[in-house]
Amino acid sequence: MKLERILQNQGFGSRRQCRQLVELGEVRIGGEVIDNPGAEIATAGLVYEVEGEAWTYREKTYVALYKPAGYECSHEPKHHRTVYSLLPHQLVERNVQSVGRLDLDTTGLLLFSDDGAFIHNLSSPKKHIPKVYRAELAEDGTDELIERLLAGVDLIDEPLPVPALTARLLAERSLEMSIDLGKYHVVKRMVAAAGNHVEKLHRNGFGGLTLGEGPLASLAEGEWIYLEEADLQQLYPAA
Ligand code: URA
Repeated sequence: MKLERILQNQGFGSRRQCRQLVELGEVRIGGEVIDNPGAEIATAGLVYEVEGEAWTYREKTYVALYKPAGYECSHEPKHHRTVYSLLPHQLVERNVQSVGRLDLDTTGLLLFSDDGAFIHNLSSPKKHIPKVYRAELAEDGTDELIERLLAGVDLIDEPLPVPALTARLLAERSLEMSIDLGKYHVVKRMVAAAGNHVEKLHRNGFGGLTLGEGPLASLAEGEWIYLEEADLQQLYPAA
């Protein structure tokens, strides 16, 4: 593929901007400046430098972000900062989208990709991919709360009661629950329907990926990492 085209589809700007970067000698491959924008370059395993920063060619890109509170999952936030401001602009330029959304005040694991099929797959309720949440409760949790969540609660826009896949108390006012549904405010609404109130919400896991473990072991709040093929396999429940 032509070098200018590679840079363009990896998020380095318009064709013209990418051509300029190359002509200005800002692009190196194997330590060597390539100043011909039309140079044919093999993309498999390609590592290149732009303005001294190393990048790996990725046909599609998959990212995990530890979302802090106070960021909106929107490209055009009205009143707050956007989660996209936490990603490098090359990824935003590639038009990565979040897989579902977390509320402004929710923290935790948020995935992004520019692979539409991947996003669709992970968002499909048919795939039954569990998401694990930790909620701080306004009142002490009870056995009854857990039983109600596991039995299923009525939500206004759902035809059938919605059950948690798992639910347990980690402390008097700390609930951990998992669901495979991705709906607006779903955890907060489920807990409210079961008779308590979520004061703080954190998503700790998505499929087999968990903050603080495996590839996400050292991901700190506000940080992001690329997910590699083996990491993506962990997302799906074992068949
Ligand atoms: N459920 C909620 O209520 N809020 C979130 O951010 C995610 C799930």
